[in-house]
Amino acid sequence: EKGTYPHFMLKEIDEQPFVIRNIIQKYQNKDGTVRLDEDIRNAMKSSDRIYIIAAGTSYHAGLVGKQLIEKIAQRPVEVHIASEFLYNMPLLSENPLFIFISQSGETADLRGVLVDVKEKGYKALTITNVPGSTLSREADFTLHTYAGPEIAVASTKAYTAQMAVLTLLAVDTANAKGIKLDFDPIQELGIVASAMETLCDQKERLEQIARDYLAVTRNCFFIGRAADYFVCLEGALKLKEISYIQAEGFAGGELKHGTIALIEDGTPVIAIATQEHVNLSIRGNVKEVAARGANPCIISMEGLEHDGDAFVIPKVHEHLTSLATVIPLQLISYYAALHRDCDVDKPRNLAKSVTVE
Ligand code: F6R
Repeated sequence: EKGTYPHFMLKEIDEQPFVIRNIIQKYQNKDGTVRLDEDIRNAMKSSDRIYIIAAGTSYHAGLVGKQLIEKIAQRPVEVHIASEFLYNMPLLSENPLFIFISQSGETADLRGVLVDVKEKGYKALTITNVPGSTLSREADFTLHTYAGPEIAVASTKAYTAQMAVLTLLAVDTANAKGIKLDFDPIQELGIVASAMETLCDQKERLEQIARDYLAVTRNCFFIGRAADYFVCLEGALKLKEISYIQAEGFAGGELKHGTIALIEDGTPVIAIATQEHVNLSIRGNVKEVAARGANPCIISMEGLEHDGDAFVIPKVHEHLTSLATVIPLQLISYYAALHRDCDVDKPRNLAKSVTVE
């Protein structure tokens, strides 16, 4: 039920702080430490390389998951688009573990890979919002994202839930390996949930940004570096699918290798700047596009903001920035779609779960 909300998408965006708190509750011990299923921990610990398989928004969560697992648990990870993996399989390591990330647990492209790798005798873990789903039943292990039913076609809370669960999976693996963490994951996820609340309270400002930058444009670019690049891919997908504005997410430094030719007078470029080590270089990229007429909109993070930034996100831990940054991008897409009279919850040509290959 939508309750007082005009759209499921807006309701589901607003639910994200609760979803994160729910996940924390489900996956913590009484003493405040993280603990996942013993079998999952052993599978993560004994595998020499993790292969994340996913599609669409879940693939974007997988890209963030790779960073989390590599940085926190020091395990090598590859991320693959499900529909490509079967036909273009990489050389596998000796003891791979497959992680399938799927909101619905029904995506046919993922199932094709799951069936194939199970036949080969490999272990599989499904991270899903629907524990009884096909991908959950057919995998060896399941991690539940506890986001509650996601009705809007555009995925929002499932994405942040996936990243939160991937964080806990990385932390649990680090614990199992005896790696000492320099942050308290439960506390930092709590800070993320509060930041999400603050962000969800800034709808008027984000609606204004959508109106200023996206009301009439044909196209839009999202640029970011390091972790911000992955959230740019997700921001662009969200905008495309519900507002039909052609959008692309780009690594800040890559734009000049061709795509900058598309920048014209007034082209909106949404730049994300939440990463300290690339703050100046992404701002350099903004200057490059501005010099070619672009209309830049900088979304930065507390402590890294400069005068003239359009929007500032509350500070969260550097591993977890994507969970906060995506909220303004989701809301900007939502308001852009509203301004353009699009059917927010049921965009054209799309279905909630894609059960054909
Ligand atoms: C985008 C979106 C899709 C799905 C993709 C995978 O908002 O919803 O890109 O993320 O079809 O679906 P799941 O996660 O159900 O496997």
